[in-house]
Amino acid sequence: MAYNLLKGKRGIIFGALNEQSIAWKVAVRAVEEGAAITLSNTAVAVRMGEISQLGRQLNAEVIEADATSVEDLENVFRRSMEVLGGPVDFVLHSIGMSPNVRKKRPYDDLDYSLLSKTLDISAVSFHKMLQTAKKLGAIADYGSVVALTYVAAQRTLFGYNDMADAKAMLESIARSFGYIYGREHNVRVNTISQSPTMTTAGSGIKGMDSLMDFANRMSPLGNASADECADYCIVMFSDLTRKVTMQTLFHDGGFSSMGMSLRAMDQYEKSFDKYRDEAGNIIYG
Ligand SMILES: NC(=O)c1ccc[n+]([C@@H]2O[C@H](COP(=O)([O-])OP(=O)(O)OC[C@H]3O[C@@H](n4cnc5c(N)ncnc54)[C@H](O)[C@@H]3O)[C@@H](O)[C@H]2O)c1
Repeated sequence: MAYNLLKGKRGIIFGALNEQSIAWKVAVRAVEEGAAITLSNTAVAVRMGEISQLGRQLNAEVIEADATSVEDLENVFRRSMEVLGGPVDFVLHSIGMSPNVRKKRPYDDLDYSLLSKTLDISAVSFHKMLQTAKKLGAIADYGSVVALTYVAAQRTLFGYNDMADAKAMLESIARSFGYIYGREHNVRVNTISQSPTMTTAGSGIKGMDSLMDFANRMSPLGNASADECADYCIVMFSDLTRKVTMQTLFHDGGFSSMGMSLRAMDQYEKSFDKYRDEAGNIIYG
């Protein structure tokens, strides 16, 4: 259902790779809500993924950019202003990648040059995006910028590896830049902390199936889907949230406030089943 929440607004969506991508869902919803957008991803992603098809579907130009390159980002903002007819009102940063995770390097045996890449792609790119946009005047006053994050930035979750450090930095950049951009241009900068979601990036997380099941059992509302995340992004881009800034906004069905739930406890207790005697007592020895 569309509410015209973004009628007349212009935006840039970074990070749509395929139909599973959270950014893909956000792009579709943004256009449904009346926005005109451009899409951006790396040259490899444009070649290997399905973003060109999405561009045709949404009448959105696809602009190639490596988000670690300031020059590429300048081009995205300049070109977007050209094709959309002025500064943009919203930007989505939906970018994450850890070469250490890809190469299965555990957290206590990280390759430091790969760690630099993780941080550059997944966190510093957000600063580069904001700084570039601000210098070019590419985000209109009262605009809204959202980046996607994960609860592992604040609490330790098995297997999230150096992406946890990248997300902690991403959330910090949202606060630090949000102060300056808010003060000078009323631009708000937030991160949305999303439930585990089965996407290309998500499936790289160690034990993703179990993690999703655990998070789902722990969350009173269950895991938030990519479509639901898109809805939340739209609200954050709309004029209904003009005084929300510098926040990590949890979109996780309640997971981040839980300690233990009945459904998770029930599953946990099953792990003792094989150690019960005939009377049902747990055998500890
Ligand atoms: N899937 C989850 O469980 C989950 C949970 C919380 C947060 N997130 C975050 O959501 C965001 C989107 O991920 P997703 O789950 O939709 O997966 P995805 O794989 O569809 O999206 C990740 C995107 O990052 C892009 N990317 C990688 N390196 C880049 C670079 N150098 N320059 C520009 N783009 C680059 C990829 O091409 C891809 O489009 C990420 O920040 C991710 O960490 C995901």
